[in-house]
Amino acid sequence: MKLNYLGHSSFLLEISGKKILLDPFISSNELAKHIKTDDLQCDYILISHGHGDHIADLVPIAKRTGAKVVGSFEIVEWCAKQGLKNGHPMNLGGSWNFDFGSIKMVYASHSNSLPDGTYGGTAAGFIIKAEGKTIYYAGDTSLNQEMKLTGELNKIDYTFLPIGDNFTMGIDDAVIAAGFINCKEIIGMHYDTFGFIKIDHDKAKKAFSDAGLNLHLLAITDDPAKATSL
Ligand code: NI
Ligand code: MN
Repeated sequence: MKLNYLGHSSFLLEISGKKILLDPFISSNELAKHIKTDDLQCDYILISHGHGDHIADLVPIAKRTGAKVVGSFEIVEWCAKQGLKNGHPMNLGGSWNFDFGSIKMVYASHSNSLPDGTYGGTAAGFIIKAEGKTIYYAGDTSLNQEMKLTGELNKIDYTFLPIGDNFTMGIDDAVIAAGFINCKEIIGMHYDTFGFIKIDHDKAKKAFSDAGLNLHLLAITDDPAKATSL
């Protein structure tokens, strides 16, 4: 698995030759403006919930690439109304085997509406199993007890956790979440993009390392040569 961080909660995963884009919010992110969304290629787009800072680039990228959109039933229905017919609806607790691996949609404690006010279903995270690895993309969420279950039922190699506070859990709760999930390798997301979620990187890394955990704060780049191997 190869991973590029595209800023905020957006990532591009490459698994078995397939490209999976998560929560695309790139062109209107000041920190990611060096990334040209017109050039981004992907086979799948995973959407955790419908807030603008997770779907801003969804419709144009999905239209251009024909990528399959994976998200809640309600979000996939909304996408169909935007002209995106290649959708795969899921709901909490459900798993599906795609051609790169499996995805299980899991609970996230957060709100979920689309930009036009349409109800988006429950906010979600994803457990992705592929190439013998298990990764957990938590989406926007607070610390919650469901994470204990996720840790008990899965051997998670890497967890993507929001750490910016205010709209999601902050660093202290993310350290506790890592314990619940029983995962030492944490990839930070949902930080620094706006004033409300700016963090002190050194303090954040220290909070994790003091708990015996590794917090990875990746550079924002779509350069495949700079991708992180998971
Ligand atoms: Ni949100
Ligand atoms: Mn968000």
